[in-house]
Amino acid sequence: MRPTAPPSRPWDVRRPPRAEGKNFLVTGGNAGIGYFVAEQLAGTGATVVLGSRNPAKAEAAADSIRSRVPGARIRHIRLDLAELTSLRSSVETLEVDRLDAVVHNAGVALDDPPRRETRDGHELMFATNHLGHLALTRWLAPLLSAAAAARIVTVGSFAAKSERLDLDDLQSTQDYQAKRTYGRSKLAQMHFGLELDRRLRASGSPVTSVVVHPGGALDSLTPSRPPVHVRTAGERLRGLPAGLVLQGKHAGAWPAVRAVLDPQVAGGQLWGPRVFALRGTPRCERLWTHLADTAVAAQLWDVSCELADVDPRLGLVAREASGTQGACSDDSGAGAPYS
Ligand SMILES: NC(=O)c1ccc[n+]([C@@H]2O[C@H](COP(=O)([O-])OP(=O)(O)OC[C@H]3O[C@@H](n4cnc5c(N)ncnc54)[C@H](OP(=O)(O)O)[C@@H]3O)[C@@H](O)[C@H]2O)c1
Repeated sequence: MRPTAPPSRPWDVRRPPRAEGKNFLVTGGNAGIGYFVAEQLAGTGATVVLGSRNPAKAEAAADSIRSRVPGARIRHIRLDLAELTSLRSSVETLEVDRLDAVVHNAGVALDDPPRRETRDGHELMFATNHLGHLALTRWLAPLLSAAAAARIVTVGSFAAKSERLDLDDLQSTQDYQAKRTYGRSKLAQMHFGLELDRRLRASGSPVTSVVVHPGGALDSLTPSRPPVHVRTAGERLRGLPAGLVLQGKHAGAWPAVRAVLDPQVAGGQLWGPRVFALRGTPRCERLWTHLADTAVAAQLWDVSCELADVDPRLGLVAREASGTQGACSDDSGAGAPYS
């Protein structure tokens, strides 16, 4: 009789697999969801690097993680995604010989006008959330290629579901609405993550790209991690009703952590929370219909590489994209795109 393989245990967000010897970078790892992604990844024994534009905040976050994860291997580098020309030298300070995963988590969401621009003259949210991560990927390429099967995990948003890109006005110069521009910047990131995976597969690369989103994650539902985040008793009480449909940032981190660590997660997939895609444990979701528009993704790719002044091959891909993607293999029943 042939021995049967032991059944793989279901994913447990509180007991992710060990990852000693691996190196992970989390952008915006000093606060919010990124902090919890870093804390949870540090608990696996991996080396985790926080990418942060504020060294004092990053040090506070690293200290907090050290106090909760005995023996945590945690460091930080200065990383400002809004300064595209600084990213190459930021990567040079990483001091790793290979990178097993990067979580493109950092993000800026403005609520109100006026429209703001970076020093390079790009709209702030589009530049930080999308162009910054695209350029960062380019400079991380040699380190990602040096790992056995690196993953690029892009944190998108439910806010992108109802948005469509305006390829003639990607930087909202004509009709700026803060919330819409944010949603579109997240949509651009999600298109980028999926297009990147198509191009990686077409070029035969072992690197994969996965898109995740955290659902709705509120500070009032997030456990305290002083001094990084302090939740008062009053805030906790006031947040209780929202907890019926939304979750804390510790739980918002779960899809990204799973996308980094779970061998069952495949490139080109979309992962988000199980309950109405707003809260709960991570599951593979069907690709939203507009995310499967490869023509839009390809145009966005070309324009974005030009704006970020990086080679369209990003140092990772040799050929143009091809094929379909997004099929889920877990119990979510997903596969084909839906609207
Ligand atoms: N919370 C939600 O419900 C929700 C829903 C959908 C998607 N998301 C996405 O999830 C990600 C994390 O959200 P969050 O709620 O954790 O946000 P957050 O608490 O505001 O944290 C954002 C992080 O991004 C960093 N950041 C901002 N601009 C940066 C720049 N120019 N360079 C480097 N880092 C920068 C921030 O650094 P500083 O501390 O220096 O500001 C901070 O570490 C974002 O991509 C967001 O779009 C969140």
